[in-house]
Amino acid sequence: MNIVLSGIKPTGIPTLGNYLGALKNFVKLQNEMTDYEFFMFVADMHAITVPQDPKELRQNIKNLAAIYLASGLNKERLTLFLQSEVHEHVALGNVMQSITYMGELERMTQYKDKMAKQETGVTSALFTYPALMAADILLYDAKYVPVGEDQTQHLELTRDLAVRFNNRFGETFVVPEALVTKVGARIMDLQEPTKKMSKSDDPANKGCIYLLDPIPVIKKKIKSAVTDSDTKVYYDKENKPGISNLMTIYSVITGLSFKEIEAKYAGHGYGDFKGDLAEIVAREIGALQERFNQIIKSKELDEILDQGREKASYLARRKLSKVYHKMGIGRN
Ligand code: TYM
Repeated sequence: MNIVLSGIKPTGIPTLGNYLGALKNFVKLQNEMTDYEFFMFVADMHAITVPQDPKELRQNIKNLAAIYLASGLNKERLTLFLQSEVHEHVALGNVMQSITYMGELERMTQYKDKMAKQETGVTSALFTYPALMAADILLYDAKYVPVGEDQTQHLELTRDLAVRFNNRFGETFVVPEALVTKVGARIMDLQEPTKKMSKSDDPANKGCIYLLDPIPVIKKKIKSAVTDSDTKVYYDKENKPGISNLMTIYSVITGLSFKEIEAKYAGHGYGDFKGDLAEIVAREIGALQERFNQIIKSKELDEILDQGREKASYLARRKLSKVYHKMGIGRN
């Protein structure tokens, strides 16, 4: 079976960044790669690497599962499941930790950033999280892993671990490849366009568009996005990070290139451009929200997650026993 796999952490409501860098790309790839099975999951064991409120976490998990479906993935070629319901993830994560070096984990940007900010309460789960992410992928022999730019370092580690395991214990894992979208792999905060848009930010952050924000709020956030004092709409990531970020959003949704957008807005100011973009995003996310509202009420969501758990568990169980056998763990 040829598998494309990806996951999203239920740490808050997914953002426009998650949508454009990941979800929308999953849908596009699923339409193009018709001989691949798509495995998508809610990475709830990853969510607890930082403290979570149990009630909120449960709601976020359900919302995220519904958002996967609302983004337009085709259910027929989709295995959708919760990571916590397939226990082999954590078990293989433990195995992965046994072949991961401390130095490799210390080099991970996410961890380094937290240490640099001298954040307190950084958990050991956060430190070892990339080993669990490697397990998520290797468990299913996924060939391709579509992700945003911030996950490519984790994918490199996953590849190293797959090769290391195969060398030590014999051919066991497929070495996966990251698939990063050309445009939209790093959507920036609308108020601070040099910082990545992130769902773990303060929900009151006006620079972050959450997929379940009311549509008028979404429009307002776009219209009040920070831009520079120039008035011409053109792409220049270094000198015009705000407008370049908005152009990226525009481009991913409409399919127009930067050149085409520049030509369209020649002679127009930022106001016109932002006004149009607000409508474009509102239409796209409005349609997603309509589907979301149907799905979240339906019984179908649980049925899909039950089927997903069964299918994923079957493959995961087989892979884990192979791994244990090769390593000499257990009796068989
Ligand atoms: P997470 O939950 O932080 O993000 C989910 C996906 O969204 C992408 N993304 C973005 N893309 C563009 N612009 C942004 N501002 C932006 N913010 C996030 C991420 O790159 C990601 O593709 N560790 C993963 C979840 C995970 C996973 C996996 C992914 C766990 N196991 C196995 C793939 C395979 C994470 O924290 O993603």
